[in-house]
Amino acid sequence: RHHVLSLADFTPDEYDTVLQTANSFREVLSRRTKKVPTLQGQVVANLFFESSTRTRSSFELAAKRLSADTLNFAPGSSSLTKGETILDTAKTYLAMGTDMMVIRHREAGVPQAIANEMDRLGVKVGVLNAGDGQHEHPSQALLDLFTITTLLDPNQPQLSLLKDKKIAIVGDILHSRVARSNLWSLTASGAEVHLAGPPTLVPQLFADFVKENKDKGRLKASSKQPDSSSNLNPLAFPRKLFLHWSLEPALRNADFVMTLRLQKERMTSHLLPSLREYHQQFGITRDRLKLCHPNVKLLHPGPVNRGVEISSDLMDDPQFSLISQQVTSGVAVRMALLYLMGSSKV
Ligand code: CP
Repeated sequence: RHHVLSLADFTPDEYDTVLQTANSFREVLSRRTKKVPTLQGQVVANLFFESSTRTRSSFELAAKRLSADTLNFAPGSSSLTKGETILDTAKTYLAMGTDMMVIRHREAGVPQAIANEMDRLGVKVGVLNAGDGQHEHPSQALLDLFTITTLLDPNQPQLSLLKDKKIAIVGDILHSRVARSNLWSLTASGAEVHLAGPPTLVPQLFADFVKENKDKGRLKASSKQPDSSSNLNPLAFPRKLFLHWSLEPALRNADFVMTLRLQKERMTSHLLPSLREYHQQFGITRDRLKLCHPNVKLLHPGPVNRGVEISSDLMDDPQFSLISQQVTSGVAVRMALLYLMGSSKV
């Protein structure tokens, strides 16, 4: 493939290729020079139509570490403000000799639309989805996977290390493209994935995910009965995906807890629990961590509503928190993606 738009059709081999390549680049990044000539002469354009700190900067740094030339697009000072369309913007960057485009947009489907246009034009420009609406954020899920698997085996990170681990994904799952991409990668690993959040912030995503993937034959109803103590969903699937509308069953003996930001900017008022209510019911605190496996680790894609999704002291506690490692992993994983897309290995 020369585009990375979704993890829905990623194969176990492709996950392992990304993990192993990222691990090689992690070694490069530990050297004094930190740079390789792999993409010398190539142009990577970061077209971020929606705000970002981590993803935009780490794609830029990843491209620079690979010796590519980078172009950074700022929508507010671009010709979008004069009415130029998104496709014409992409074609403008193409005409300058761009080899890869990294796209973020608040609407789902924009990276796909640009990829379709590049294919229609018959040009070999790789398009990478850096987060589109509530759809997917593949590079975030891959860096989450890399963070977890390198913790389990720093020399040989691979998908199968997660088999039978219990992973809780907690929070605003409804609006989360990170959750959607992580559902693909984590369930493909054989991990048991438990989604938990307030009823207003979980069911639509679950319904969409199940419908979309049952239609494609990727999920099948399981005869397995849900844990009677978990106060919800009667459905469970061979990919080992469970849904809870309370926190305790998701946390019980969990190896990893991934918390998600309450996306207030995407919420209509009836969906929004107050931040205080949310923290009381679903906030991760030291007390609640006692339900988890003793070696539990916490993840959060960022940005964090400090003191809402996780108590502030836990967020900064290196015994539990992998949040900084996630950001660090992002550079190596994005180097791997740019390199592999450039050589058509993913
Ligand atoms: N996790 C993530 O996508 O963060 P940014 O919005 O800062 O890129």
